[in-house]
Amino acid sequence: MAIPVRKCDAALGAEIVVDLSRAIDDRTFTELEGIFHDNIVVFFRDQHLTNEQHIAFSRRLGELEIHIVKKYLLPEDPEILLVSNIKNDAGEHIGLADAGFTWHSDTSYRKNPSRCSLLYAKEVPHRDGKPLGDTVFANCIAAYEALPDAMKRRLAGTKAIHRYSMRRRVDNSPRPKLTAAQLAETPDIAHPIVRSHPYTGRKALYVTAGECIGIVLRDGEQMPEDEALDMIAELDAHCVRPEFCYRHSWRIGDLVMWDNASAMHLAICDYTLPERRLMHRTTVIGPEPI
Ligand SMILES: [Fe+2]
Repeated sequence: MAIPVRKCDAALGAEIVVDLSRAIDDRTFTELEGIFHDNIVVFFRDQHLTNEQHIAFSRRLGELEIHIVKKYLLPEDPEILLVSNIKNDAGEHIGLADAGFTWHSDTSYRKNPSRCSLLYAKEVPHRDGKPLGDTVFANCIAAYEALPDAMKRRLAGTKAIHRYSMRRRVDNSPRPKLTAAQLAETPDIAHPIVRSHPYTGRKALYVTAGECIGIVLRDGEQMPEDEALDMIAELDAHCVRPEFCYRHSWRIGDLVMWDNASAMHLAICDYTLPERRLMHRTTVIGPEPI
């Protein structure tokens, strides 16, 4: 029997009606993966998952990343990263508080960036009965396909340089400053601006203004910085045009899974304490982009 799927009225995104706390056989899982690749962002509502179930389902998609900011990992389950604005008794955030306030693709600063992320909503902030803290996703396959042919030719063989510490430069970032050891662990990395999806082969733009600091041309030379930053900003703005986007409004119990090889995303930080947001994230490692 086919898995029930409700496609969003957008360029990406679909709800899948499956209880992830139940055993999922290999055939069903393969079907789920196909739906995921077709829709780029999928979500499962009303889930009641233990940490173990969240981790076990994520592991079926690949090896899990242990995030570089260790203080926000669950001590007993370090595969789970807390994304939260909640503070402990000492007044310190218990998780990554900004949730990603620039457009990005998770762990694009890694040699082997994330295949996908799975974010599970434990607490969702509300105001006047409306949920806050939406996440917006952009379909980077559709964005690539919509580029003029001249731009596609120009981008072929080029790479963008991704830098993890880029977002930390924003003055008001609530994220902790990186230590020298963390900086050493995340050197700048160049990935193709147009990458082929590791499972479907479809081409997608893989460049974000929030993470990229330069462009390497086909001949190995670096594009002049001003020109590169302009092009990165232009491509970023192109990707996030409304017709390529889906905005997810969260409910407690949502598990949202997105494809980092073909989408970028943005957290809408429109809430503040005492409006509490608590999410559990697992991150699946992917192959090196080609
Ligand atoms: Fe993110």
